[in-house]
Amino acid sequence: MKLGVCLFLLLLVSGSADSRCFCQVTGDLDDCTCDVETIDSFNNELLFPKLQTLLESDYFRFYKVNLNKPCPFWTVSSHCGLKDCAVKPCKPNDVPEGIRSSSLHKYPAESNEQRGECEQAGRLGAVDVSLSEETREALLNWSKHDDEAERFCVLEDEGSPDSQYVDLLLNPERFTGYKGPEAWRIWNSIYEENCFKPFTIKRPLISNSFYSSPGSEAKTFHRWLEGQCVEKRAFYRLISGLHASINIHLSARYLLDDSWFQKTWGHNVSEFRGRFDSELTAGEGPKRLRNLYFLYLIELRALAKALPFFQQPSFQLYTGRAEEDQRHKELLLHILQLARSFPLHFDETSLFTGDEKEAAKLKEDIRLAFLNISRIMDCVGCFKCRLWGKLQTQGLGTSLKILFSERQIEALPSSSDQRPRFQLSRQEIVSLLNAFGRISTSIRELKTFRSLLAEDG
Ligand SMILES: *[C@@H]1O[C@H](CO)[C@@H](O)[C@H](O)[C@H]1NC(C)=O
Ligand SMILES: *[C@@H]1O[C@H](CO)[C@@H](O)[C@H](O)[C@H]1NC(C)=O
Ligand SMILES: *[C@@H]1O[C@H](CO)[C@@H](O)[C@H](O)[C@H]1NC(C)=O
Repeated sequence: MKLGVCLFLLLLVSGSADSRCFCQVTGDLDDCTCDVETIDSFNNELLFPKLQTLLESDYFRFYKVNLNKPCPFWTVSSHCGLKDCAVKPCKPNDVPEGIRSSSLHKYPAESNEQRGECEQAGRLGAVDVSLSEETREALLNWSKHDDEAERFCVLEDEGSPDSQYVDLLLNPERFTGYKGPEAWRIWNSIYEENCFKPFTIKRPLISNSFYSSPGSEAKTFHRWLEGQCVEKRAFYRLISGLHASINIHLSARYLLDDSWFQKTWGHNVSEFRGRFDSELTAGEGPKRLRNLYFLYLIELRALAKALPFFQQPSFQLYTGRAEEDQRHKELLLHILQLARSFPLHFDETSLFTGDEKEAAKLKEDIRLAFLNISRIMDCVGCFKCRLWGKLQTQGLGTSLKILFSERQIEALPSSSDQRPRFQLSRQEIVSLLNAFGRISTSIRELKTFRSLLAEDG
């Protein structure tokens, strides 16, 4: 649909749910010289299928993460709180007596209702940390390899004895039942306290029920945003895009049917509309979707810029199986070359550059805000949400690290006896590609939602 038609529909404040979600999600994107349609076909037809294949490889499916760090900002006091929600779900009193005593029939179908949201959230939110003996041994071999390779810093998480490997394919990002005040508080503190926003400006988007969002506050907020420098505006939009992406996954892999003999996950159109329909979100929904595209472009740009790093002959996707490792490296390089070939990149000469002193300050501001957001992820009560939250913030952080390091990457030495000034750890590489994989999947899912909404009328 062309922008003109779209605006016309907006003025009429009518049109189908389809056009209400996607109305502004067409044509050119702000701060960028690219349009949504080009991104859609590039992603859905070219990039997405190849990326999926790559992410299923052993190198990319095992992510090392510390899920047991305490929340540094507040006590996580919710009933399904931090520790082992899945193993010992909730307080005993939250679970009806009949179920507690019949531990042999752990999840009898008829008492599904009574179990209540609390236990359900624990069960669905649990992270499966199981790995086969063989995998465990192989991973030991990999870290030995990584330790021998030269690195310039070890991320706090990666080095911690509490960190463990998680198989991402066993733990898909999907609906977990994690919602309500606690989940709300996480996003709220990310937006309220970590988006360079003065307290006098009220955020529109976040409220306990996403059906109510006051219109005039939204206007003030967006006016404020307009006045910001491009980087701070970009930062807000990246976070908003990440939030949109996560919500798309939860709507696309919603728990539609939950009984003890089967679980069905699938698209829930009304959940999607609740988050993105302009009528149900006081006009915010389509902006969130545009921010998702913006995030996509930033991460795509970072991948393109990182190509020289991955092209170094010494770089391996090491799993110890030389032939397979070589094949996966070729696939990775192919994907990065595709990213490089994408014609309409946003203009990063206007982003992350400018007056050198000012740029350095800004870079530091953004780095600190980012660090803080990843610490907020330790406050997420649902482990599976925490896993994907950490992975995606780390992936985005790695993208920004790449964008800010353009000069160092270009100056990478061609011979291996010089110490390179730019490095990425295995954990950064895994999160970079998997985070982008999530955004790429979201863009692909939008196509499905578009047609589901069109059917609904
Ligand atoms: C780990 O490395 C050792 C010694 O190089 C080798 O014998 C063993 O097969 C490797 N294990 C796996 C699972 O790759
Ligand atoms: C980090 O986030 C916390 C919690 O939202 C907030 O209280 C604190 O002011 C933030 N610190 C910085 C340096 O942004
Ligand atoms: C879809 O999500 C809504 C909440 O947005 C929920 O009320 C409804 O039950 C869900 N539909 C199905 C089939 O689970």
